[in-house]
Amino acid sequence: MPDTLTITDNRTGKTYDLPITDDTIRAMDLRQIKVSPEDFGMMSFDPGYVNTASTRSAITYIDGKKGILRYRGYPIEQLAQQSDFIEVAYLLLHGELPTATQLEDWRETIRNHTLVHENIKKQMEAFRYDAHPMGMWISTVAALSTFYPEAKNVRDADNRMVQIRRLIAKAPTIAAFTYRHLQGYPYNSPDNDLSYTANFLSMMFRMTEPKYEPHPALVKALDVLFILHADHEQNCSASAMRAIGSSEADCYSALAGAAAALYGPLHGGANEAVLRMLTEIGDVKNVPAHIERVKQGEVRLMGFGHRVYKNYDPRAKIIKQTADEVFEVTGRNPMLDIALELERIALEDDYFVERKLYPNVDFYSGLIYEAMGLSVRMFPVMFAIPRTVGWLAQWNEHMADEAQRIARPRQIYTGAGERDYIPVENRG
Ligand code: SDX
Repeated sequence: MPDTLTITDNRTGKTYDLPITDDTIRAMDLRQIKVSPEDFGMMSFDPGYVNTASTRSAITYIDGKKGILRYRGYPIEQLAQQSDFIEVAYLLLHGELPTATQLEDWRETIRNHTLVHENIKKQMEAFRYDAHPMGMWISTVAALSTFYPEAKNVRDADNRMVQIRRLIAKAPTIAAFTYRHLQGYPYNSPDNDLSYTANFLSMMFRMTEPKYEPHPALVKALDVLFILHADHEQNCSASAMRAIGSSEADCYSALAGAAAALYGPLHGGANEAVLRMLTEIGDVKNVPAHIERVKQGEVRLMGFGHRVYKNYDPRAKIIKQTADEVFEVTGRNPMLDIALELERIALEDDYFVERKLYPNVDFYSGLIYEAMGLSVRMFPVMFAIPRTVGWLAQWNEHMADEAQRIARPRQIYTGAGERDYIPVENRG
């Protein structure tokens, strides 16, 4: 049997054989389907791109039914257990695990780019004392484009890698600055004796002590969280990164746009929304009432549901295990009981079962961040730091993909037909 799809247009009786590749048809092959020759031709209509592939990609593989997530073919469970975030960043960007030499060089080059221009501090000071850290982070990442004008040379692979290393290195520095701004504390410089995640904790929490020694269990937990959040194929923010990148904007401007997409409570802003939801519920005894509100459609169960996973998000499983390790150090977060009761009821209730709603990556992560002393408004920033690697890997792949063009979807026009202008004095 040929790999083709035969379509009959019953309006004309004509049939069309469309080639099938990778279990998809090319949307452009629909354009030949017309009722009359002057027609524009048929398009596909897919709000939210629920069933539209926008690209070929070799970076991340997800099987939503089986709850599978792999970076460059490696199962997320093995990477979380055996790797660390900087090694995973190398893997996502280069496609292979690094040799010992490549890994040391990679760590060294990231370590040597953690500082930001002193003017960034002045820019940070312009924000209100209570500015949301994610708004500060997005604005400051965009401002980096003004310090590196050569980043506009997006078609040069070597130049892209220079900017990629800078952004991976500076993402946590800027994040720590936003936190220190919120607290009214002085900014901490990076400590290049520390690992990527340990250095981030040092920039966040060092006060007057000459050397900040983060607890190894918290460093490991943060590494696991960063690995789990690093990439997730063509999610909303990665698609934004690719769309902005497709106009050949520099990666700093594109990444600020991607982070803006992540900020939404339906996406990466969900981890903040989960903590606010748990705080509002306040006590395990109030869980049934909240579940009822969700089933009445009044509110969504934040941290539940996923466009792709129709099974338990594999990342949520690992985060839940990591939470126990963190709580051994920080003390148990009392809101965990509320989260566990929400999960217990939701996994048994037909409303959630029928809709295949399971805990996603955002359901438990905030409990860990809060236990580590982070304010809830920092949670989206905690998502953006590791996802910087995924956005850059997706962007880098996009810029090298000769099949790609500037992103410019079509529409179904539902507005007024042609009509003549009416001078204001003649309007009703
Ligand atoms: C992330 O795409 C990614 O990969 C994202 C991410 C990544 O790593 O990049 O995984 C990170 O964004 C995780 C998702 C975090 N968001 C939340 O936790 C917010 C709560 N969840 C949702 O709003 C929702 O589940 C989405 C946005 C995640 C998915 O939305 P979809 O796929 O468009 O599903 P939908 O809105 O069409 O919902 C289908 C049905 C609807 O019910 P009906 O109208 O059919 O009766 O399920 C219901 C929805 O009302 N539903 C929920 C729900 N999520 C979906 N009902 C209650 N609570 C929810 N959380």
